[in-house]
Amino acid sequence: MGNKVGFAIVGVGNMGNAHAQMMQKLDNVELVAVCDIREKAFDNLPADIRSKVQCYTDINQLWQNEAVQAVLIAVPHYFHVDIAIDAMEHGRHIIVEKPISVHKAEAERLIEACKKHPELIRSAMFNQRTLPAHKKLKSLIDNGELGKINRVNWIVTDWFRTQAYYDSGDWRATWAGEGGGVLLNQCPHQLDLMQWLFGMPSMVCAQVKIGKYHDIEVEDEVNAYLEYPNGCVGNFITTTGETPGTNRLEIAAEKGRVVLEGGKISFIRNEEETSAHIKNATRGFSRPEVWECSIPFNNNMPHPQHATVVQNVANAILKGEKLIAPVEEGINGLELGNAMLMSGLKKQPVTLPIDSAEYAEILAGLIASSTRSKKESKESAAAANMSSTY
Ligand SMILES: NC(=O)c1ccc[n+]([C@@H]2O[C@H](COP(=O)([O-])OP(=O)(O)OC[C@H]3O[C@@H](n4cnc5c(N)ncnc54)[C@H](O)[C@@H]3O)[C@@H](O)[C@H]2O)c1
Repeated sequence: MGNKVGFAIVGVGNMGNAHAQMMQKLDNVELVAVCDIREKAFDNLPADIRSKVQCYTDINQLWQNEAVQAVLIAVPHYFHVDIAIDAMEHGRHIIVEKPISVHKAEAERLIEACKKHPELIRSAMFNQRTLPAHKKLKSLIDNGELGKINRVNWIVTDWFRTQAYYDSGDWRATWAGEGGGVLLNQCPHQLDLMQWLFGMPSMVCAQVKIGKYHDIEVEDEVNAYLEYPNGCVGNFITTTGETPGTNRLEIAAEKGRVVLEGGKISFIRNEEETSAHIKNATRGFSRPEVWECSIPFNNNMPHPQHATVVQNVANAILKGEKLIAPVEEGINGLELGNAMLMSGLKKQPVTLPIDSAEYAEILAGLIASSTRSKKESKESAAAANMSSTY
């Protein structure tokens, strides 16, 4: 094996094109091929990239190219699982864009297929795990610096999108084309980080608004309440209809309060743990002494987020580096989003783990009753019904 991994990108739209350009800057990766069902997609590649990569409209021809060792799958979500399984069956390492699939049953199918290919590297594109602030939070939590976490609040309302955005692709913001709205397209990063940092809740109760701010048939506002097995509670609030919006994660823990906002972590540390002070204090309005702590971390990254994930996968292939985001972990954030939608649509709390077959049925019903019969959406509906073709 040389010192570069031969990569192909499947799906050369907005993200695939950006990935193609990003790969040019990595010293352990060589982009050797791209594949898209639309030949016109290749026209958007910068000329210098287009001239040196093989372009395929038929994925079966891509598999014949022995220089392709790994594929980055950047097609609309419904096709992620089929293409990932196809790639593994053809002996290729995979990076699957977020969300790894549209619903839990499909993620389970992907994970089953992964089990048959332990020899391959299998990653998801959870690029936000690479951000220094997120890594720092993770280490603070995992090292016990915050003590037990009692409450988490994440307000993610800075995903503002216009109607023109939703109108820009036939697959966007339809049940059949995308399988959801803000929870499936914009929030998979935060949903993944929620489970990465805090684990999985045991109950979700969500209010979900369908097309509140946009002419779309899927959710563009979610207010979710979460309960964790250890008694921690959480709120997850998101929308694509608010501007300027907020991105603020607040963690109330025994050892104090942490806020991540604007790329900065602030920590007000309790001298005595909250529950101990509740018990031990002799005065009714007493509070523990606090220290304002600055949490230093280096915000400089050798490569941008997506490049860091791709470089990590190449190093995993070349020298066994530990993966930042194993694809199997993608089921958790996905389940969290599915649970919020399930709760909102049923207008009742749901317990986790959710029944993946029940959720698949709910989604199939939404697709069947959709009035938005767009061309690509119909193709995706077949994928939603777990057709093995794509
Ligand atoms: N990680 C991130 O930060 C990030 C950011 C944006 C998008 N994404 C993800 O990337 C994926 C693509 O999003 P996008 O905005 O680039 O979409 P897009 O519509 O711009 O591009 C999708 C491309 O896939 C092609 N395609 C569709 N079906 C295909 C198939 N079966 N085989 C080959 N090509 C096919 C389309 O022709 C199109 O060129 C989505 O899953 C999205 O969630 C991730």
